[in-house]
Amino acid sequence: MAKLGFLPALLFLLLCATFGAILSANSPNISTDQAALLALKSHITHDPHNLLATNWSTSASVCDWIGVACGSRHRRVTYLNLSGMNLTGTINPNLGNLSFLARLDISNNSFHGAFPLELAHLHRLKYLNFGHLPSRIFDNLSKLQVLDLTENQISGSIPNSLYKCKELWYLSMCNNSLEGSMPKEIGNLTMLKYLYLGYNNLKGHIPSGIFDNLTKLLGLDLQQNQISGKIPSNISRCKELRYLSLNNNYLEGSIPMEIGNLTMLEFLRLCHNNLSGSVPSLIFNISSLQQIRLGFNTLFGYLTSNMFDYLPRLVYLDLTECQFSGRIPKSLFKCKELEYLFLSGNHLEGTVPSEIINLTSLKYFFIADNNFSGQIPSSICNLGSLTALCLNQNSLEGKIPECIGNLSSSLLVINLEENNFHGTLPENFSETCTLQSFRINNNQVEGPLPRSLSNCKGLNFLDVGNNYLNDSFPNWLGNLDQLQVLSLRSNRFYGKVDSSNVTASFIRLRVIDLSHNNFNGHLSTKLFENLHAIKEGYEKIGKPKYMIEFANDGIWYYIPGLSFATKGLEMEFHSILTFWTAIDLSNNQFLGEIPKTLGELHSLIGLNLSHNCLTGSIPSSLSDLSELESLDLSSNKLRGRIPMELNNMGFLEVLNLSYNDLKGPIPQGKQFDTFTNDSYIGNLGLCGLPLSKSCDNDEETPTEADPDDDGLNWKFSILMGYGCGLVLGLSMGYMVFTTGKPWWFIRIFERVRQRFVKR
Ligand SMILES: *[C@@H]1O[C@H](CO)[C@@H](O)[C@H](O)[C@H]1NC(C)=O
Ligand SMILES: *[C@@H]1O[C@H](CO)[C@@H](O)[C@H](O)[C@H]1NC(C)=O
Ligand SMILES: *[C@@H]1O[C@H](CO)[C@@H](O)[C@H](O)[C@H]1NC(C)=O
Ligand SMILES: *[C@@H]1O[C@H](CO)[C@@H](O)[C@H](O)[C@H]1NC(C)=O
Ligand SMILES: *[C@@H]1O[C@H](CO)[C@@H](O)[C@H](O)[C@H]1NC(C)=O
Ligand SMILES: *[C@@H]1O[C@H](CO)[C@@H](O)[C@H](O)[C@H]1NC(C)=O
Ligand SMILES: *[C@@H]1O[C@H](CO)[C@@H](O)[C@H](O)[C@H]1NC(C)=O
Ligand SMILES: *[C@@H]1O[C@H](CO)[C@@H](O)[C@H](O)[C@H]1NC(C)=O
Ligand SMILES: *[C@@H]1O[C@H](CO)[C@@H](O)[C@H](O)[C@H]1NC(C)=O
Ligand SMILES: *[C@@H]1O[C@H](CO)[C@@H](O)[C@H](O)[C@H]1NC(C)=O
Ligand SMILES: *[C@@H]1O[C@H](CO)[C@@H](O)[C@H](O)[C@H]1NC(C)=O
Ligand SMILES: *[C@@H]1O[C@H](CO)[C@@H](O)[C@H](O)[C@H]1NC(C)=O
Repeated sequence: MAKLGFLPALLFLLLCATFGAILSANSPNISTDQAALLALKSHITHDPHNLLATNWSTSASVCDWIGVACGSRHRRVTYLNLSGMNLTGTINPNLGNLSFLARLDISNNSFHGAFPLELAHLHRLKYLNFGHLPSRIFDNLSKLQVLDLTENQISGSIPNSLYKCKELWYLSMCNNSLEGSMPKEIGNLTMLKYLYLGYNNLKGHIPSGIFDNLTKLLGLDLQQNQISGKIPSNISRCKELRYLSLNNNYLEGSIPMEIGNLTMLEFLRLCHNNLSGSVPSLIFNISSLQQIRLGFNTLFGYLTSNMFDYLPRLVYLDLTECQFSGRIPKSLFKCKELEYLFLSGNHLEGTVPSEIINLTSLKYFFIADNNFSGQIPSSICNLGSLTALCLNQNSLEGKIPECIGNLSSSLLVINLEENNFHGTLPENFSETCTLQSFRINNNQVEGPLPRSLSNCKGLNFLDVGNNYLNDSFPNWLGNLDQLQVLSLRSNRFYGKVDSSNVTASFIRLRVIDLSHNNFNGHLSTKLFENLHAIKEGYEKIGKPKYMIEFANDGIWYYIPGLSFATKGLEMEFHSILTFWTAIDLSNNQFLGEIPKTLGELHSLIGLNLSHNCLTGSIPSSLSDLSELESLDLSSNKLRGRIPMELNNMGFLEVLNLSYNDLKGPIPQGKQFDTFTNDSYIGNLGLCGLPLSKSCDNDEETPTEADPDDDGLNWKFSILMGYGCGLVLGLSMGYMVFTTGKPWWFIRIFERVRQRFVKR
């Protein structure tokens, strides 16, 4: 029965289709549009939000379908917008039947396959936002005025046929993979007001001829390409230009004086290039300027006190990492709209003037890495909008204003590291503290760690290292369930490390540096048990990223660095990757055995327990630390044999077991073949390669540790001056011998990065 009924039904369908096609070919109407859209729908393979599945139904008028609009006169589809519906499928050629279509936006979907040439029939099309481009697609789109291909996956060069669209006034192909050089034919598009080609792979020079034609240009965005050469001086022909973004390219030479002729300019972004020389002073006369972003070039000059006299609308000033000298110009405090002030990495000097209070809109105040001296004016606390305060790496001194704690309901970042601040830390971090990063390392602050820091529930980065802080272990920080990095390094912290009375302790912590303090007692198994981030490798899900200090207003700041010590060397991380995990408890007076549960910290990369008074044997469970790159257990009182299992640690790059009471054969093979004598010296009972002492038959077979032998070793350590408590001996010595760059560390870091990028 079923088979018999099938043929006539098919025949009927075929007839209807043929009949319909003939008629609609003669007089296309809204049914043609409906058929075209249904055909489009039928080629969509995935519609995650079920937008089209139910809505695009023949029971309703096409003109009421989601994403569709019709013209009032002809009742034909004039507008189709599927943007952001997250559809997967191919673009059906039938779309070319929407002969009244003026605006087509199918961006931000996962359409694939070729772009159908039939779309070239859409001669009324004025606005197109889509992905893939066959080369002649624009041939018949001579009426096109707006072409927005932002954020697609277009590769190759811009198709030549585009230069026939002479009515184009808006062209954006930002955020694609365009290659080749910027074509001079763009000069043919003389109506252009907006030319946005940022975030592509364009190379070569900017063809200077184009500016003779593009005199109507209001916006030019070429940022984030690989464009080289000079900025053409005839850019000044674009007298209307308001928005100029050439940042993040390889532009060189000086900034052309003629830019000063662009008197309508509001946004000037030239940062992250190789521009050199001085900044044309005429630029500071363009009173419409809201953004001046010149940072990360080799520009120089002296900041004169009146240079900002004519910039009343300035919101954003970025002169980061250039070579400017002088003081913060007085006239800058007249720029009442200023929100972003980035002056880090120059040769600026003087004190931070108290007139800073005049900048009531200021959000970002970055003057790090200059020669500023004197005290922080307490008027800074009146800046109620302040989001980030980075005064690090200067010669600032005095006490940190107590009132900074009040500011912590707006501040996300405080970075005061590497100054000469002394006195105690502010006590009163507010109840509504929003702080995410607090760094005061490398100063001379003393006293306790303020308990009110526990109000800062979003704190993820706390570095108070290299000061004179005197306190017990801040287990109360364990309540901060965002805390990822904690460094108390090189202070006068004392007592036991215990987090047993905090329930959700340190759940996201993944870098802990407690080294060079006076902590004592047993290593806290409770603390290790709570380190879920290191146990389960939370941050390793997805691609490795640089840890973001904060992201705000579309600006991302990366954690610039952290002092971290392994093997006695202290060094700066260039950046902290989110998957970096390390525990450094070295140079304290911890005693007792190494807890077996340490082996559960599966994603640990660096472990340093050196220069303590740890006893017992090395637990074989350490071999479960399969990601470990660096293991330093040196200068303790560890006894017994090195567990053979340790040679399962496939990534181990650095091993230091020196100056303990270890004995018996050194494991052989795999990573162990790469370690030298240095890893084992000061253990008289060890034998086998790389040591010259060979193992006799007795030692080849594991036996219980011999107390007498261990005693002998221990005496030897003391004689050498490397026993517990004498923390400096070995590390200093090692530093002298490995002069220059800590190659092994850089290698580990790079290798770890590679490892995780590949996954
Ligand atoms: C559209 O045209 C077809 C064929 O010419 C016709 O059958 C149909 O009734 C028309 N529809 C409308 C809404 O005019
Ligand atoms: C389709 O979606 C549009 C816009 O959301 C809505 O106005 C219309 O009622 C929906 N039609 C159906 C049949 O669900
Ligand atoms: C299409 O819709 C998206 C999201 O609703 C919107 O952002 C975009 O401006 C629309 N495009 C056009 C051409 O109207
Ligand atoms: C893309 O669409 C998603 C929703 O599907 C939306 O959240 C996102 O903002 C859109 N991106 C752009 C660039 O429009
Ligand atoms: C879009 O679809 C992709 C894969 O189909 C999915 O991973 C993603 O979460 C979706 N995004 C939205 C906003 O629906
Ligand atoms: C629509 O376009 C397709 C492909 O371009 C064509 O084969 C078909 O005849 C057209 N259909 C209608 C109903 O006009
Ligand atoms: C452009 O239009 C001409 C004339 O109508 C036609 O011959 C040609 O095939 C069209 N080109 C494209 C790419 O559709
Ligand atoms: C640019 O315009 C000129 C003159 O109108 C024309 O001869 C030339 O073919 C155009 N170039 C392109 C690539 O369209
Ligand atoms: C300027 O535009 C004219 C007219 O379209 C064109 O002929 C000429 O080649 C263009 N010049 C440049 C340098 O692009
Ligand atoms: C542009 O600026 C330069 C140098 O500042 C000046 O000599 C020239 O006259 C200006 N050109 C125009 C067209 O204003
Ligand atoms: C700062 O503001 C005060 C009060 O509004 C004003 O008197 C003073 O001149 C301003 N200072 C500067 C440098 O603009
Ligand atoms: C937790 O320990 C700290 C310091 O040892 C102590 O001050 C605090 O009262 C304890 N909290 C609880 C809930 O026991």
